[in-house]
Amino acid sequence: MPSEVVYQMMHFELSEEHKLIRQTAREFADQVLLPGVIERDEEARFPFEEVRQLAELGFMGMMVSPEYGGAGLDTLSYVLAMEEIARVDAATSVVMSVNNSLVCWPIETYGTEEQKRRYLPRLASGEIWGAFCLSEPEAGSDASNQHTTAVREGDYYILNGTKNWITNGETASVYIVFAQTNRELGHRGISAFIVEKGWPGFTIGKKEKKLGIRASDTTSLHFEDVRVPVENRLGAEGMGFKIAMSTLDGGRIGIAAQALGIAQGAFERALAYARERKAFGQPIANLQAIQFKLADMATEIEAARLLTYKAAWVKDQGRPYTKEAAMAKLYASRVAVKTALEAIQIHGGYGYVQEYHVERMLRDAKITEIYEGTSEIQRLVIARQLLRELGG
Ligand code: CAA
Repeated sequence: MPSEVVYQMMHFELSEEHKLIRQTAREFADQVLLPGVIERDEEARFPFEEVRQLAELGFMGMMVSPEYGGAGLDTLSYVLAMEEIARVDAATSVVMSVNNSLVCWPIETYGTEEQKRRYLPRLASGEIWGAFCLSEPEAGSDASNQHTTAVREGDYYILNGTKNWITNGETASVYIVFAQTNRELGHRGISAFIVEKGWPGFTIGKKEKKLGIRASDTTSLHFEDVRVPVENRLGAEGMGFKIAMSTLDGGRIGIAAQALGIAQGAFERALAYARERKAFGQPIANLQAIQFKLADMATEIEAARLLTYKAAWVKDQGRPYTKEAAMAKLYASRVAVKTALEAIQIHGGYGYVQEYHVERMLRDAKITEIYEGTSEIQRLVIARQLLRELGG
């Protein structure tokens, strides 16, 4: 049985406000991000100035309520902006995505009033940004296998452990860290903490050299007897795994939008090139072999867009969205990789070199099939939800 939700959303016109957000993001991407995107990728240089300007547009705290300094927008607005930013510069879009989805959202959703007042205004204004620290050397897909520990001592928890592959690891100021507070309870013994950069015992580890999204920083983090005040625990003790999972549900919508943006960017470049490039006495866009590719790319991107916007819409309706988010991420990330590959193929030899952008888009696309849960994990999440819906 198809879901009734599908029928309730069947008007496809964006509101004027949504169109304005999309237009603003598109202009920003073309005018501010495009000029230095190749150099930032090559030099693995963090987009400090670009993030500052992104924050001025309100894009670093899009869904945070105005009460805490955010833009108070819905998830669809966030998705539209993410898509446009990623269309040009996926590395910058991931900084935005982590801060919005994985840092601001859990603090606003699970934080105490004091935590919200203390952290959200600075995070939402872009004065600082955050990182989400779940993965460990032995806890990637198997996220509940946390080895980091937090042992309560009076008014503090003593945090020890290592986190891996942390986006914004070096440049963030606030870190949502997951740790075992009671190993015997398994995933129900995991708790979440808000940790600040500079606290004694907290050090930034190795910066990874990556295939793609090279301008965003990815590092390991080390905690050695870090004293975390009890008031910095996020949510109740033992709630950490649920906080992580529900946060990732929203994060996956953001990554779906990122993948969609990369696909759209690669498609636009392929289309423009196909109309320009002449072979056999005519633009290659006249050749059926190219037309078939363009038609498939456009169709799959549109399907990814519908899944992604639908996931955002379901979340905005206050309905459960675990399955929709995983479906959107699964499909959009596949489409991103496939579209970027086809865009290179259409460009021929030019596609293989830096200045035509599509080789970077392929490298950037690949991570969308890995972070915030691999494609295999998304399929697991979808299947479990389907079985649950059927009462299995
Ligand atoms: N919302 C709330 N709670 C949830 C949930 C959700 N979406 N999904 C599961 N839970 C709860 C369950 O209800 C269950 O709780 P109870 O037992 O108390 O009822 C508990 O979590 C455990 O559920 P599972 O048995 O399903 O858990 P599991 O150990 O089998 O793991 C998994 C499930 C889907 C594989 C999960 O481990 C997972 O998502 N793994 C991937 C992790 C991931 O995405 N990591 C990304 C790191 S962050 C990142 O990449 C950021 C970046 O750099 C950009």
